[in-house]
Amino acid sequence: MLSIAEVVLIICLSWKVVCEPSIVYKMKNIECITSPAYSANASCCIKAINWNKAVAQMDVDLVRPLHNISVRLQVFKKDYSNQFQPFLIDVNINLCDILSRRNFLPYGLIILKITQRFSNFNHSCPFAGHLMARDAYIDESIMPITPPLGFYKMNITIMENYQNTAAAHVGGIIWYSQVMLPVKKKIKRTGRA
Ligand SMILES: *[C@@H]1O[C@H](CO)[C@@H](O)[C@H](O)[C@H]1NC(C)=O
Ligand SMILES: *[C@@H]1O[C@H](CO)[C@@H](O)[C@H](O)[C@H]1NC(C)=O
Ligand SMILES: *[C@@H]1O[C@H](CO)[C@@H](O)[C@H](O)[C@H]1NC(C)=O
Ligand SMILES: *[C@@H]1O[C@H](CO)[C@@H](O)[C@H](O)[C@H]1NC(C)=O
Repeated sequence: MLSIAEVVLIICLSWKVVCEPSIVYKMKNIECITSPAYSANASCCIKAINWNKAVAQMDVDLVRPLHNISVRLQVFKKDYSNQFQPFLIDVNINLCDILSRRNFLPYGLIILKITQRFSNFNHSCPFAGHLMARDAYIDESIMPITPPLGFYKMNITIMENYQNTAAAHVGGIIWYSQVMLPVKKKIKRTGRA
């Protein structure tokens, strides 16, 4: 006997039905942090599209060009006492190597996909002037693994020249999202259940 999940999977694969995503990454909030020596006029906000999806708009002006950008990505997950605890990922990524495709680390590829889809920093270094992202979101096609359900915080710290000191901090993004089962719409019965 096949389980219902297996039947659904077979229907999806064989009939190429567009199935509901099994989980969604719903953005809850986003904060942008600037550092006066490097960045100004930051504006970050999210817009809810529906129960399952929100998108981010981000804008920032660079005070000076960036030639050698690195990014520290830290992920936290809320525990049972409602505190964010470090969750598996704490990596430093050389963004210029990623964007010029000299580096193919998994997290780098996620960043590459996000920047290519949603932003104007889709070229190789250096960067100058106005940077922006429009209607950005994360979905299953970007994530290589399925994380456990819950509330997550991503701390993305952007640095110049890989020196993790306050002086080299260009700015940062704090991104809160909920990994959850999709909220199903009530659909009108067609008579065939
Ligand atoms: C920030 O915005 C102001 C007003 O639009 C502008 O004059 C200034 O040049 C901007 N800062 C940078 C670093 O571009
Ligand atoms: C980069 O993004 C801009 C603005 O979204 C777009 O016009 C351009 O075609 C993109 N370039 C590449 C190489 O993807
Ligand atoms: C994000 O990470 C940076 C560098 O590790 C740290 O200075 C900052 O306090 C963190 N921010 C939050 C909101 O966790
Ligand atoms: C650029 O950053 C890398 C680390 O990501 C560092 O090893 C290198 O020395 C830096 N290059 C320059 C020219 O500062």
